Amino acid sequence: MNSMYQDPYNRQYRKLRVSLTSACNYACQYCVPDGKKLLKAKHELSVEQFIQAISLIVESAGIEQLRITGGEPLISNKLESFLAGLKTINIPELCLTTNGQFLEQKLPALIDAGVNRINVSLDTLDPVQFKQICRGGDLATVLRGIDQAVEQGIKLKINMVPLKQHNADQVVPMLEYCLERGIELRYIELMKMGHLTTGDEFQQEFWSMKSLLDQISTHYDYAPTRAPNDSTAVRFQIPGQGDFGIIANESKPFCRTCSRLRLSSAGFIYGCLSSTRRHYIADLLPLEREQGLEAMHQILSAAMKDKQDLSFTGETTVMKMIGG
Ligand code: 5AD
Repeated sequence: MNSMYQDPYNRQYRKLRVSLTSACNYACQYCVPDGKKLLKAKHELSVEQFIQAISLIVESAGIEQLRITGGEPLISNKLESFLAGLKTINIPELCLTTNGQFLEQKLPALIDAGVNRINVSLDTLDPVQFKQICRGGDLATVLRGIDQAVEQGIKLKINMVPLKQHNADQVVPMLEYCLERGIELRYIELMKMGHLTTGDEFQQEFWSMKSLLDQISTHYDYAPTRAPNDSTAVRFQIPGQGDFGIIANESKPFCRTCSRLRLSSAGFIYGCLSSTRRHYIADLLPLEREQGLEAMHQILSAAMKDKQDLSFTGETTVMKMIGG
């Protein structure tokens, strides 16, 4: 089925990211400029609408993995009923990206729903830096959530955005922390999103893949290792100790193999994180199933054309609302 959306670069949709809410309990430096926390969309999809849309997308595009994102998904009061609704749809792999603040609390519900891979966003192990970067939340609470998830056998990754002026000294300590716990650390090169598309902040904070590898090489021997074809990360292995990855948007763009499709909490499909183009789907939900599928097909075909040819070019609004 998903061959229907092949494009000149042979890209297909395999991974769907659903932003359950655009609200967040943090106000990270690189996400929002003014320290004001993001709020939920004025017209957020209902759980029924989310599930119906996902069902159409899955049938139309043959999705293999669904990732729940935000904002921060675990603060949504729709979480439990959304997870229950997902059980009616056959999706091979269910994943979640969270800042971890409510991980300990929501872990039983997530496990019960069959979430088997969780990415926790954590930029530092230093409580002072944590407050400066996140402007919300509590480090110790996140660390407890991580311990619990590891204990429960969840496959965990930690996302760290290294910032030259804030947490570059955490590159090695974060790796040590993850290797000790069998967690794969993924450094995410700062992306030109939102307010970072203008002004000097991006240049001041950008910490490249090369800088990261230089730091890591002073403590560890690593070698490149294979990653799936549509992976966004360049992966490395530290023999006998574990793996880490770098999502190098700037240094090693990955648009050519992008298999991602995004649904926002306000009901828009995005084919590309680096494009403001979006496609509203709520209007097609009341249609008869066959008509709904046809309309969804049109939208997914259009969204495929929104993907960038080669590399991320920067975008002003999307990431904070629809997650990574
Ligand atoms: N550049 C890089 N990573 C970002 N994230 C959010 N904004 C940016 C940005 N401008 C990260 C979050 C989270 C992941 C989904 O994306 O920290 O871990």
